[in-house]
Amino acid sequence: MSVEINMSNDIEEVLVTAETLRKMTKELGRRISEDYAGKELVLVGVLKGGFVFLADLMREITIPVDMDLISVSSYGNSTKSSGVVRIIKDIDIDIANKHVLIVEDLVDTGLTLNHLKELFNTRGPLSVKICTALDKPSRRKVDINVDYKGIEIPDKFVVGYGLDYAGKYRNLPDVCTLNPRVYSKG
Ligand code: IMP
Ligand code: MG
Repeated sequence: MSVEINMSNDIEEVLVTAETLRKMTKELGRRISEDYAGKELVLVGVLKGGFVFLADLMREITIPVDMDLISVSSYGNSTKSSGVVRIIKDIDIDIANKHVLIVEDLVDTGLTLNHLKELFNTRGPLSVKICTALDKPSRRKVDINVDYKGIEIPDKFVVGYGLDYAGKYRNLPDVCTLNPRVYSKG
């Protein structure tokens, strides 16, 4: 029977615990506060996945910051990158003469961030840097510099802490792999 009682039945393995994510976020927040002290900083969260990390990270930053959100789609419902990045919702604020820090859940092929960095750079910012909670360096297709990196993970499809599979599991507090039977259902 495939009645979904709760999400924990679908988890195969916990790769990164909520506690580890908390410590990592605190440390990145401390570094960012130091590096951008006295500068005008705009945090841009990448929806949907990046909002959980952004919410945690901004509360670990002790300098004044502005924030906005951009919504992109690159995957559809698949677990593989199509390489196509579509802007669904752009940021509203003017980033000219400001420092931009893009906040992502995970850098995989790097295609999304490469695209966003190029886009923001056309708008006259003082700098555009990247902060990610998770990194899968083995999967990189473009050479992209990740300025603030949380935790490196192996080449596995993960969910939780904002990351989804077919729209679900974003609300898991840990970063987990899913039981293969979940994919075979879809
Ligand atoms: P990239 O463009 O390949 O670097 O990845 C773009 C986005 O795809 C990431 O920011 C995630 O939102 C999503 N993504 C990549 N790998 C995974 C995964 O393992 N689980 C869920 N989403 C993923
Ligand atoms: Mg993302």
